[in-house]
Amino acid sequence: MRQGRFESKLAPDAAELNASVGFDHRLLPYDIEGSKAHARMLATRGILPVSDAEAICAGLDQVRAEWERGELELDPQLEDVHMNVERRLTEIIGEAGGRLHTARSRNDQVATDLRLYAIDQTKNLRAALRGLALALVAQARNHVDTLVPGYTHLQRAQPVRLAHHLLAYVEMIDRDRERLADAARRANRSPLGSGALAATTFPIDREEVARALGFQGVTRNSMDAVGDRDFAVEIASACALVMAHLSRLGEELVLWASQEFGFVRLPEAYCSGSSIMPQKVNPDVPELVRAKSGRVFGDLVALLTIIKGLPLAYNKDLQETQEPLYDAVETALACVRTMTGLLAGARFEVERMRRALDEGHLLATEVADHLAARGVPFRQAHAAAGAIVRRASERGVDLAALGIEEMRAAAGLAEIDASLLAVLDAARAVDRRDVPGGPARARVLAAIADAEARLKE
Ligand code: ARG
Repeated sequence: MRQGRFESKLAPDAAELNASVGFDHRLLPYDIEGSKAHARMLATRGILPVSDAEAICAGLDQVRAEWERGELELDPQLEDVHMNVERRLTEIIGEAGGRLHTARSRNDQVATDLRLYAIDQTKNLRAALRGLALALVAQARNHVDTLVPGYTHLQRAQPVRLAHHLLAYVEMIDRDRERLADAARRANRSPLGSGALAATTFPIDREEVARALGFQGVTRNSMDAVGDRDFAVEIASACALVMAHLSRLGEELVLWASQEFGFVRLPEAYCSGSSIMPQKVNPDVPELVRAKSGRVFGDLVALLTIIKGLPLAYNKDLQETQEPLYDAVETALACVRTMTGLLAGARFEVERMRRALDEGHLLATEVADHLAARGVPFRQAHAAAGAIVRRASERGVDLAALGIEEMRAAAGLAEIDASLLAVLDAARAVDRRDVPGGPARARVLAAIADAEARLKE
């Protein structure tokens, strides 16, 4: 690269800062595929002799095989994976190796490799998320009839089915998968042929190369194609949301696994012991997942910050977008996979959840709804139910245990009669919430079937 124009070598410290082989080795398989497609197209267009293209493709296959066998060492003096592959190719096939870079620049080359990597990883992440959703749905199937307090402000609010609670996460994951597919769809254009920034003078066939690499088409503007990494931002952003959702799930599992809640027993294979307290079984996995969200959010902010001040078109700053992208997708993948194993082995404490429904007056809304259904304005019904709750709390008893006479006295409402007692039952309260998106048994069963159908692939 420095031959010709430069007299001296790059200073060692500058070389170290400049080199990307420490991380861009992930691009090697994509770089080889991209180069093979490029060489074949050059031959079809008569830009390269067919024999050269054949030698190049065979040589590239050998480079790849050496890499897979762990025999290829990437030299940081050569800066990046692209120069390393080309150097090794030329060592193997000689002069023809030097023709590969005709009608191409590392700028359109790296943009292509990165897009191919990103598209592949969104597929992996979507598949992993599907596995996590399936684990949640399987638990939901087992817990259609498990009632649990639903919370707002982390205060017991209204009873729900555990299945309904778990299916809330399935919805989040569903949208996460859509977002990844959507980001991948926009990334799916081939930049090859954009050259350094102003395309090329050679009569290339960009469409042919795009097709060979599985792209949906070609990018429309050469300066944009080499100068932007918004596809990386979009994918990191989708990863950040995946992590935000996983972090909430992790937080709930940490809470629920505590002795204070006691709602879940996490599988031992996913828990850690304490080096000093022999009795401890710590939920390290959901804690780490919760924390790793911070690192993926950081990746997203790094990407946006790197891009925001860049004049068109390519700048070396763009090399720095690689690591945050790798980190975001690889961290998300590892967390999704681990959470899947954790959830599949989790045992929910059904009895403990049921007993939690007895305290906290979770049926107060039933009282208000019952009165409102009988014609009492809801605001007044709400106040009456509040007065009944207050009386029950003073006595230290359940709403139902107060009895009709005392409830009527506390609320000062003639509409309170024996029919109220019938609604003071958690299972009934849940099943009365029989609207689309609600926790009634039939709705939850339908939601599970619906989720299973969507997750069939
Ligand atoms: N390793 C470089 C990157 O990731 C490849 C492109 C280098 N282009 C250049 N003009 N120096 O961006």
